[in-house]
Formats: sequence, C-alpha cells, structure tokens
Amino acid sequence: MYKVVIAGCGLISAKKHIPAFLALKNKVEVAAVCDLNINAAKKTADSFNIRRTYADFSDMLLKEKPDIADICTPPQTHASLGIEAIEKGAHIFLEKPMALKVSDCDVMIEAASKFRRQVCVVHNQVFNPAFIRAREYFLKGGIGDFLGLHIFLSTPTNYITSKKDHWAHALPGGILGESGPHGVYLAQAFLKDIYEVEVNARKIIPEYPWSNFEDFRIVLRAKNGIGTVELNYASNQWAAALDIMGTKGMLKIDLQSQTFVSYERGKLDAFTVGLSEVKMAAGKMCASGVNGIRYMLGKKSDGHYNGIREFTESIIENRPPLVTVGDGRETVRVMEMLTERLNCRKQRD
Ligand SMILES: NC(=O)c1ccc[n+]([C@@H]2O[C@H](COP(=O)([O-])OP(=O)(O)OC[C@H]3O[C@@H](n4cnc5c(N)ncnc54)[C@H](O)[C@@H]3O)[C@@H](O)[C@H]2O)c1
Repeated sequence: MYKVVIAGCGLISAKKHIPAFLALKNKVEVAAVCDLNINAAKKTADSFNIRRTYADFSDMLLKEKPDIADICTPPQTHASLGIEAIEKGAHIFLEKPMALKVSDCDVMIEAASKFRRQVCVVHNQVFNPAFIRAREYFLKGGIGDFLGLHIFLSTPTNYITSKKDHWAHALPGGILGESGPHGVYLAQAFLKDIYEVEVNARKIIPEYPWSNFEDFRIVLRAKNGIGTVELNYASNQWAAALDIMGTKGMLKIDLQSQTFVSYERGKLDAFTVGLSEVKMAAGKMCASGVNGIRYMLGKKSDGHYNGIREFTESIIENRPPLVTVGDGRETVRVMEMLTERLNCRKQRD
C-alpha cells in the first residue's frame, strides 16, 4: 500500500484528486491532508474520512514520510513544495503548471534524478477519453498529415475573473497563467518544438480591474505546424474544444462532453454536406449515450481520474509516468514566452 499525502485543500483537491486517490483504495492510502488554513484541512479531512491534518507541509512530510506527495496548491508554491517533497523521499504529483519558471523546473528535475523520485504534472486533459481516442485516430492516419490546430477554452467570470483576491491574478500573465497551460500542453500533443509565439489580449470588463484581460488570442508556431489558442473569461459559459486539421479531414473534439467527431467535407454539394452532418450528429449521439451510461454506472473516466491512476501505476511499476518532467518543462517554457510577449505588448482597449 502506498502512502499519499495531499497539500492544498481547495477546489481541485476536493473535487478531483482526493476522490480519484480514494478510488484506488487497493493500491494507495490517503493518510493526511495539509493546508495553511487548518480549518480548510479539517473540513476536507472530515468530508473524506482522512485521519490526520496539518497546517504545515514540512511538518506533514516529516511525520508522515509519504511515498507520494500530491501538490494541489497555487502555482506560486509548486517549485518549493515539490523540491522539498522530493528531497524528503516522496514521488510527487503536481498540479499544472509544473512551476512558473523553466529554471525552477530544472532544479526539480535535477532533484528528482538525484533522489530517484518520479515527478508527474497534472496535464489532465491529455487523459480525457475523447482526446485519447481522437489522438489514436489521428496517429492511425485517419485525417492524413497534420496541418494545424485550434483550441477554444472558455471559463465563466465567476470562476476566477470576478474574484479580486484569487491567486491567479497575481501570476505572471495574470489569469492566462491559470488555464493557459491547458491550451499549451494540449497543443504540444501535436505541435513539436514551438519556437515562436504571439499573443493578443483584450480587456472587456472594467468592473474587475484586478483581472488583466478577459480575451486572449494566441499563436503557437512550431516546426510541424501552427496552433491557435483562444481563451475567454468574460461570459458565463464553460467550453473546451479542439479542431485538429489534417490533409484528409478534421477532428472536432469536445473535452467536456468527452466526444469527438470526424469532419469530412471534401466537396460542397448538398449530399456530401448532408452526409457529413448526419455522420457527425450520429457520432456525437452514440458517444454521448455511451458516456452517459458509463457515468450512471459510476465508471468515472475523466482526465484527473485516468491521470492519477496512470501515475500511481507508474510508481508501482517503477517506470516514468506518461506525462514526463520534460513535458511539464516544455509547457512552462512556452508559458514563459507567452507571458513575456503579453507583458511587452501591454495591450488594452
Ligand atoms: N487541472 C485542472 O483542471 C485544474 C483545475 C483547477 C485548479 N488547478 C490547479 O490546481 C492548483 C490549485 O488550484 P485550486 O483551484 O484548487 O486553488 P484553491 O485556491 O481553491 O486551493 C488552494 C489551497 O492551497 C492552500 N495553500 C496555499 N499555499 C499552501 C502551502 N504552502 N501549503 C499548504 N497549503 C497551501 C490554500 O490555502 C488553498 O486552500 C493550481 O495549480 C491550479 O492551477 C487545476
């Protein structure tokens, strides 16, 4: 049985990490949780029946001596907590982004190599079932050669934008530093060696002056194609969608309904367009139906559940996890480029 401790008793640990680790009850035991706010730690421990609580991460590491430290604290703390946990002998599972600077990722990578510990960054959407299936379809040549991609992420204003004291506003790049990594690592599953970035941004809501921008349009240039990422924080809508363009077709992935369809419109006559619409509608209905049944049967299969299961297995099997430290570092490298471009432009209208 592997001993897991969890740092940070906020939104993501309660919603995803703790339930996902508890679902692995034959392999791991969640022994303790910790939060600077001890009341938050106690509340979380009570809700999940976890025995011990701490207000201090170092204290928890010292007393618990965990096999795995799961770090669900704000990004500003990832490097220092991650390095400390590795040095105290724990494998670490780290919410995205791996750190705020590439230099911090490098220190973490060096520590992991020195102490022979595994580090896995929560790039949860690469474990989204629809994303996995669409990527397999692409790798089998389903849409020909890769040409480029577009990603659209929308986060409602009441999640972060309207909250003056949310830690995301204090990140380099502001709110872009919070969900930007999702857009970047998803793009990196297809785009290799991003070497140049552009970013346009627009301030939409003057009532929230602490939020830098609410609309970001990003261009990622890589050796094998161009990706664009659009992030919006001004509506009341959630969205997470990708279009992957190939020489023989296009894949449209909806990460929230966990469905993907193949878009085939080689001609524009009524029959071809009609047939493509019918195939897409049928594909969506089938996939949604299967997902609905799985959900009702309690077979949870989202990115966090799958990612946490995969990471735990990588520890048990003593092999690197599927999301490597190199992947985590690459995302931070591109986030640093984006932040620099954003801060250079300082666009407002
Ligand atoms: N992968 C995803 O889909 C996803 C979604 C949401 C958040 N996240 C990531 O998860 C992390 C946490 O986000 P959240 O929304 O849960 O934040 P949150 O603010 O809801 O919770 C963070 C908690 O960490 C605690 N904390 C801060 N510093 C600490 C320290 N040094 N030691 C112990 N506790 C400390 C805070 O008191 C707070 O309770 C961030 O990195 C964020 O980017 C990922």
